[in-house]
Amino acid sequence: MRIYDIILKKRNGGILTGEEIAYFIDGYVDGSIPDYQASALCMAIFFRGMTDDETAALTDCMARSGDRIDLSRFGDLTVDKHSTGGVGDKTTLIVAPIVASLGGKVAKMSGRGLGHTGGTVDKLESIPGMRVTMEREAFLRQVEEIGIAVIGQSGNLTPADKKLYALRDVTATVDSIPLITSSVMSKKIAAGSKSIVLDVKAGSGAFMKTPEDARTLARSMVAIGKACGRRMAALITDMSRPLGEAVGNTLEVVEAVRVLRGAAKGDLYDVCVALAAEMTMLFAGVSRAEAESRVVDAIESGKAFRKMQEWIAAQGGDSAWLVRAQYGDGAALAVPVVAPADGYLTNMDAEAIGGAAVILGAGRSKKEDDIDHSAGILVSKKTGDAVKKGQVLATLYTNDAAAIEPATQRYLGALTIGPEPPKATGLIFDIIR
Ligand code: URA
Repeated sequence: MRIYDIILKKRNGGILTGEEIAYFIDGYVDGSIPDYQASALCMAIFFRGMTDDETAALTDCMARSGDRIDLSRFGDLTVDKHSTGGVGDKTTLIVAPIVASLGGKVAKMSGRGLGHTGGTVDKLESIPGMRVTMEREAFLRQVEEIGIAVIGQSGNLTPADKKLYALRDVTATVDSIPLITSSVMSKKIAAGSKSIVLDVKAGSGAFMKTPEDARTLARSMVAIGKACGRRMAALITDMSRPLGEAVGNTLEVVEAVRVLRGAAKGDLYDVCVALAAEMTMLFAGVSRAEAESRVVDAIESGKAFRKMQEWIAAQGGDSAWLVRAQYGDGAALAVPVVAPADGYLTNMDAEAIGGAAVILGAGRSKKEDDIDHSAGILVSKKTGDAVKKGQVLATLYTNDAAAIEPATQRYLGALTIGPEPPKATGLIFDIIR
């Protein structure tokens, strides 16, 4: 077999065999296929697409390219969740303890934030003492004992994806449905959970800008997960504005605690209940109504928050801090952004708001950047709200005085204020099962 022939076949619209796909992945991981040929094949896939069978074969080869976590000791109770990324998306901090408090086993590997989107690992590290690395056996023991462990990506999981994703990032081949599907699903399959719920975001702060594109991606990922023997569901949810009110690491942990303690309702609460209910349906095999009632009860009874405290303590975190922490802790500066005019907030560019949070220190422009966990934005007015000139739209938190002016300009530039209220749009556009 020659990689040249495989590239040519795909370039001409052919369908690759499982052997050809395996030849490509194995050769790319062991270095015998160079970046320039791998990028040519990615570009051919970008233009020609892949059939479901090709995407399934690619996912399977990538999942097998490195270590895989064996969660078989937990039977069918393991359940994972993946978000395609957004601004203010702290749902893992909320749904993981809810689901664990209901008997699910959450053995989760999460990522760090990059660009305008945040990452669960950075959020967890805002909790004093919290450890996000663990030896494999300790990780599994914690899942066994308390039902939940969340750590950063470790070990040699899906090296094929690490290499390919870095290549796609610099060759304009990220936004291809079969390549995104195989990238996300290979990591989820290697991470071992039986049930997987995907939160596919749609809107200005997401990869997929429209619900239609998000639906196409979700259908592809659900089909591939099922073909690999997993129980799957995907929610298509709105990311045309930040989720909830907090953007930035400590701020988001505080908001997650508020939701788990029943002190905050609204869009974040609704998305979390929907995700946790879908996860509960899959691992417990119950109806949607039953799953939702269990989830709401876990929040209202305090069971889910107690599980969060148990989880944080098990990973060395200060669980009493969760109760004490307040919005703005650790930030020397708290500066309001005020409305320049009367009207209605008709649009928020979530990506630009994420960018304002990065300027304040909450995120990274490059992988190796440091972050300020206390930096971020508390959003007080969201799309659809009436605003009066001079009214506070958001509060910026930072320790970097020089960031205030550019972040304020970026935040204001992300908003559109008009004379009429906008048409209401949904929060959960669809559920693909
Ligand atoms: N996230 C991933 O993990 N992979 C992609 O290809 C896109 C988003």
